[in-house]
Amino acid sequence: MPKALVLGGATGLVGQALTCVLAKRGWQVETLGRANGNPLDMAFLKERLTRVNADTVFNATAWTRVDEAEDHAEEALLLNRTLPGALARILKALGRGHLVHFSTDFVFSGPRQTPWREDDLPNPVSVYGRTKLAGEQAVLEVLPDRACVVRTAWLFGPGRQSFVDAILAQCRRKDTISVVHDQTGSPTYSLDLADWSVSLAERNATGLWHAVNGGGASWRDLAREAIALTAGPCRVEPIAADQWPQKAKRPVYSVLDTSKLSALLGKKPRPWPQALRDFLWSGRRLDANGGEEGPS
Ligand SMILES: NC(=O)c1ccc[n+]([C@@H]2O[C@H](COP(=O)([O-])OP(=O)(O)OC[C@H]3O[C@@H](n4cnc5c(N)ncnc54)[C@H](OP(=O)(O)O)[C@@H]3O)[C@@H](O)[C@H]2O)c1
Repeated sequence: MPKALVLGGATGLVGQALTCVLAKRGWQVETLGRANGNPLDMAFLKERLTRVNADTVFNATAWTRVDEAEDHAEEALLLNRTLPGALARILKALGRGHLVHFSTDFVFSGPRQTPWREDDLPNPVSVYGRTKLAGEQAVLEVLPDRACVVRTAWLFGPGRQSFVDAILAQCRRKDTISVVHDQTGSPTYSLDLADWSVSLAERNATGLWHAVNGGGASWRDLAREAIALTAGPCRVEPIAADQWPQKAKRPVYSVLDTSKLSALLGKKPRPWPQALRDFLWSGRRLDANGGEEGPS
């Protein structure tokens, strides 16, 4: 039975999806989060990685608060670059264990009209994007033969609030909501991402991988689809990003090309509206045995 250590596996959106999918696919899983100790304490981290002796370490711990990162660059850098770099160095010294590290479409900016490929040049426009790019580089420089970086985007899924949950909550309170229409990305289901990521781990994949559901969408498209699928009565008004002040700049276009992943898996990731329907109609909660539960 292969063994995994999942950083962020007890509380994070991606971490919880990974923990669930790994268990379903017959892996032995341990998680590592704040409750166990400080992952930035290098002695603690080394001791834990040595003791668990995992076949694969999945790093789903990150500074993910994009706007707050603008005022907390040092802290964001510690979690988004120092931590993955340290994981890679510890695994290198141990001489064993694969690393699957997660990154983001926010390493790109746009404007552009065709999906970004793994070999396209990144150009982040936010502190978050820059620190995530630095983390990718640290991992791939230190452990090129035993690490892969999985870039994903615009996640929704069980276990933690996402944009989709926030929209549906707003809709329960208001008749009309305003949502940005001029930023385009790749909405993605956390459980699909977890499934692809475990497949990458099982094949000992290395290098960069784009892993998102099929089809691009604006935030407004995603909000409208979520409302339609839950038969919400709320109207969605389009607004421009510059009418919606946010501290951090976002990419204008960050749809990711998944040809490389599709070739490896032998099939394309399913379209995001299909995945969103699965989430909203039957996958809102994760059960303790690594399965999904429908709405109660
Ligand atoms: N969510 C998205 O839309 C999205 C899009 C693109 C890429 N990604 C990437 O996917 C990966 C996972 O993101 P996510 O959405 O799953 O993030 P998340 O739900 O915010 O989870 C982040 C995890 O990191 C942990 N963490 C944060 N600060 C910590 C600290 N100082 N010490 C210990 N643990 C800490 C959190 O623990 P607590 O729960 O205790 O805070 C949580 O387990 C990240 O690399 C992110 O960049 C996410």
